[in-house]
Amino acid sequence: MVLRTLRRSDAASEQFSNSILDSLSEAIVVVDGSGLIHYANLSAEQFFGVGRARLVNHPLSEFVPEETPLFSLLEQVLATGGAVAENGVTLASPRIGNRFCALRLSPIVESDGLVAVSLVEQSIARNIDRQMSHRSAARAVSALAAMLAHEVKNPLSGIRGAAQLLEQSVPDSERELTTLICEETDRIVALVDRMEAFADGRPIERGPLNIHQVLNHVRRIAENGFGKNVRFVESYDPSLPDVYGDRDQLIQVLLNLVKNACEVPGDGEREIELSTAFRHGLRLALPGQQARVNLPLVVSVRDNGRGIADEMRPHLFDAFVTNKPTGTGLGLALVAKIVNDHGGTIEYDSEPGRTVFRVMLPMQMPQANS
Ligand SMILES: Nc1ncnc2c1ncn2[C@@H]1O[C@H](COP(=O)(O)OP(=O)(O)O)[C@@H](O)[C@H]1O
Ligand SMILES: [Mg+2]
Repeated sequence: MVLRTLRRSDAASEQFSNSILDSLSEAIVVVDGSGLIHYANLSAEQFFGVGRARLVNHPLSEFVPEETPLFSLLEQVLATGGAVAENGVTLASPRIGNRFCALRLSPIVESDGLVAVSLVEQSIARNIDRQMSHRSAARAVSALAAMLAHEVKNPLSGIRGAAQLLEQSVPDSERELTTLICEETDRIVALVDRMEAFADGRPIERGPLNIHQVLNHVRRIAENGFGKNVRFVESYDPSLPDVYGDRDQLIQVLLNLVKNACEVPGDGEREIELSTAFRHGLRLALPGQQARVNLPLVVSVRDNGRGIADEMRPHLFDAFVTNKPTGTGLGLALVAKIVNDHGGTIEYDSEPGRTVFRVMLPMQMPQANS
């Protein structure tokens, strides 16, 4: 393979190099000492959201503000001639939004003054790890839920029936106790019912779905109940294609996210933004699948609450993890399970005053029906 490429003509080998660069998931740009862009690969187009023609021969500062660490790293590379790497750099501009990136800058050997810059968005990389842990958490809960449904619900209905029979023969003064038995067994049954949503076996009924209708439905439910005092803001991309999903289950996902967003304490007027977007080029490798899947539809729920508590973060999507006095800790575990069942993925960013949960979903495609 290598030998064959070496013998290719110059034009063919240039094309070959370009196609290698275009198949990388890192965004690569080549800049000179004055910050002018000389080259951009396909992922760079996606990263900056503009075509190559708008990138090449334009200053990098049109896309990334000059006060970001990227430019000081660039100066460092030019001054020392050595490569530098930095993780966790935030690049923010109106054009590219807020990006959390790993940067690698290397001088290009035979071209004086040119530097290759690679940018990798870290929320995506970190998300793949998190995705794996959601999956195993969801599996553990599925098994537990199936066990509870069989082993707990049946005896409970026996206990309740017996208490009802007793109720007729005990004196009034003790009826309070039989009522207590009935109420408490009902409470356990309700909890087990909620957990049964996790038990595997319920087929998901997927079809083309307008996600905006789902969001409007969720918003209506919230506004008439737990979200009465919250201001809802919508930022929808009306050109979004259909999602390939199960309507009831996606309502459940968004309802759980919106409910959490309403419940978190915060200062001032509470606001929740529901938004949808099409994100080019988000490809993820999912466990058990060879191919990388394309998850271009992004549905986000943003709130202005005080943010996710640090101690909650490592196990946020696990079942029974909660810091609310009456919480069940089942909301996000169910969200993770349903999103996984849809072949999608979920990630979050949270800081005081701004928490965003993003659900990435596959879109409806003809071959998806098979
Ligand atoms: N939007 C949010 N802002 C801050 N914390 C959140 C948010 N969403 C979820 N959390 C945290 O995640 C925990 C788990 O959520 P969830 O699984 O829905 O269970 P529950 O709502 O019953 O506590 C919550 O107790 C809360 O601490
Ligand atoms: Mg919840």
